[in-house]
Amino acid sequence: MRQSRIFAVLVLGLALVFSAAALYAAAAPEVIKMQAPYPHKKPIVMFSHKKHSTQYGAKCGDCHHDKDHKPLTTLKDGDPVQKCIVCHKLPGEAPPAALKGLTGAARTKKEVTYHATAMHDNCRECHKAWNKKNNKKPNEGAPIACNKCHAGK
Ligand code: HEC
Ligand code: HEC
Ligand code: HEC
Ligand code: HEC
Repeated sequence: MRQSRIFAVLVLGLALVFSAAALYAAAAPEVIKMQAPYPHKKPIVMFSHKKHSTQYGAKCGDCHHDKDHKPLTTLKDGDPVQKCIVCHKLPGEAPPAALKGLTGAARTKKEVTYHATAMHDNCRECHKAWNKKNNKKPNEGAPIACNKCHAGK
């Protein structure tokens, strides 16, 4: 009697562990609605997550990294992934006042504590580099203009 009760508790515990794991091991969706939990002034960005890694040659580690900013190069579909805002915590873009007097690496470090500035840094720096390498004018290739990404839904 006592043993079977212990067994039941164990089974329940295991079931909880597995269901929790299932919640976090989300497969990456094809398109991600970029709407971090703060008020938005611009139309919402619909980010073609799947196309970026299947057609545009972007690697998981180009965008996903750990708490020490080490690229997550071995990430694969189904692995748990933290939202960018977990670490890039401050809402919106960095206000000029917060960056006053800062240059170089110190400036970047401060800038990317703001969620939207970190996103712009990640998205647009790659787009710029890609356009340059492929001899594309700014709005022929990967988008740089605001309304090409903030196309809205
Ligand atoms: C390459 C795509 C891209 C381009 C180009 C871009 N953005 Fe964004 N922007 C984003 C993403 C992604 C976010 C993060 C949205 C989120 O996850 O909530 C964002 C967030 C923002 C935010 C904070 C959220 C809000 O709506 O208030 C502002 C403000 C913003 N962008 C302004 C601009 C402006 C102004 C331009 C042009 C100078 C621009 N963006 C160009 C992708 C882009
Ligand atoms: C071009 C940049 C980029 C690339 C490449 C990329 N991701 Fe992402 N991924 C993102 C962004 C941005 C998000 C949204 C995070 C957020 O909402 O804060 C995301 C979200 C996710 C999520 C969570 C989805 C959700 O709904 O919460 C998973 C899982 C994921 N990515 C896995 C991968 C894997 C695996 C690869 C490589 C095959 C990959 N990503 C490649 C930028 C990228
Ligand atoms: C677990 C924490 C964590 C998560 C989650 C995270 N980052 Fe970061 N990120 C960092 C750290 C730490 C740095 C380095 C900042 C510094 O230099 O102080 C960084 C730096 C950056 C930079 C600046 C790179 C440069 O130019 O120096 C960008 C852009 C960036 N992250 C984008 C993203 C995006 C996009 C996501 C979501 C797909 C994301 N981060 C998720 C911790 C994180
Ligand atoms: C590692 C490089 C890289 C990063 C990082 C990246 N992109 Fe791109 N993106 C590309 C390339 C390459 C293209 C395709 C250019 C072409 O073929 O014309 C593209 C195309 C796009 C397009 C237009 C086509 C489409 O699929 O909608 C949008 C919008 C876009 N990216 C948004 C984003 C956003 C938002 C982010 C950041 C969350 C981001 N990108 C991060 C490389 C990147």
